[in-house]
Amino acid sequence: MSATYRQQAPAKVNLFLHVTGKRDDGYHLLESLVCFTATGDVLTGELRDDDKITLSITGPMAGNLALESTDDNLVMRAARMLQETGTAKQGADLVLDKRLPVASGIGGGSADAAAAIRLLSEMWKLELDDATLSRIALSLGADVPVCLHGKTCVMSGIGEEITELPDLPPVPMVLINPGKAVSTPEIFKARADEGFSPTGAWDTNQTFQSGAALADALSECGNDLTLPATGILPEICDVLNALAREEGCLLARMSGSGATCFGIYDTFDQAERAAHAIAAQNPDCWISPTHILTEKTREQADIGAAFPD
Ligand code: C5P
Repeated sequence: MSATYRQQAPAKVNLFLHVTGKRDDGYHLLESLVCFTATGDVLTGELRDDDKITLSITGPMAGNLALESTDDNLVMRAARMLQETGTAKQGADLVLDKRLPVASGIGGGSADAAAAIRLLSEMWKLELDDATLSRIALSLGADVPVCLHGKTCVMSGIGEEITELPDLPPVPMVLINPGKAVSTPEIFKARADEGFSPTGAWDTNQTFQSGAALADALSECGNDLTLPATGILPEICDVLNALAREEGCLLARMSGSGATCFGIYDTFDQAERAAHAIAAQNPDCWISPTHILTEKTREQADIGAAFPD
């Protein structure tokens, strides 16, 4: 029996997201503090003797993805691009365990593509240099390079410039998606004439000992896509209010182009209680108590373990 390889695809959260300009090709320049969480998808794979690549999609959020052709799935596209580098002679049978909502601002598809790059590089023993991997990642989507990086960082450019940062603490967090997908291009289009935020909003040298200190610094920033997103999907306001109302909430904000929002809480108990209370009142929402992944908790926590031991 052949070995099963495994990669986690942690959800990315934009702790703040500023739109700082627009390129001639229509892509927006961003500045965003990005972290990753213990909630995510999981990609596994087995080697094949021939060069065929197959993908099946399982898990609680597989939904329509499991019924559609997987040809255009970002995992398949990443796999084909790696194979086309010419160094991979084998194929793979891949299984994506889809636990994150689709088109939800926490990088589900991008995280899956990045996980596919990591997984197949290991399985096929590819030794592609960082520049090639970054080029492949960016061609798959603006959020794929940051997901390939996989650690807390400031992301700029359209997503391809990454500034490494000191680790954040394992801050308790609750993720909530109202159960409706939003289209990223539509949100960017809807902000049309809102102007741009200045660059350099985040001091990349600062370190934080607590969620409270982080939330305090984040209160100076925001998510410039919130207004257009709530215009298109007003339920996002309800989600933000639900998070903010719970005891111990230090900050409630939307991630990416939405519709998923996150709340930062003072303690793991408060995050757990908030998640349960909001779930009881909002059965249609996807809700995940989790924490900001750190070097240490990444080693310990398998995807799905909400909080570190
Ligand atoms: O690169 P990705 O496929 O994730 O982007 C989807 C769409 O979101 C783009 O076609 C573009 O309309 C918009 N976008 C943008 N600026 C970014 C990222 C995405 O305008 N930095």
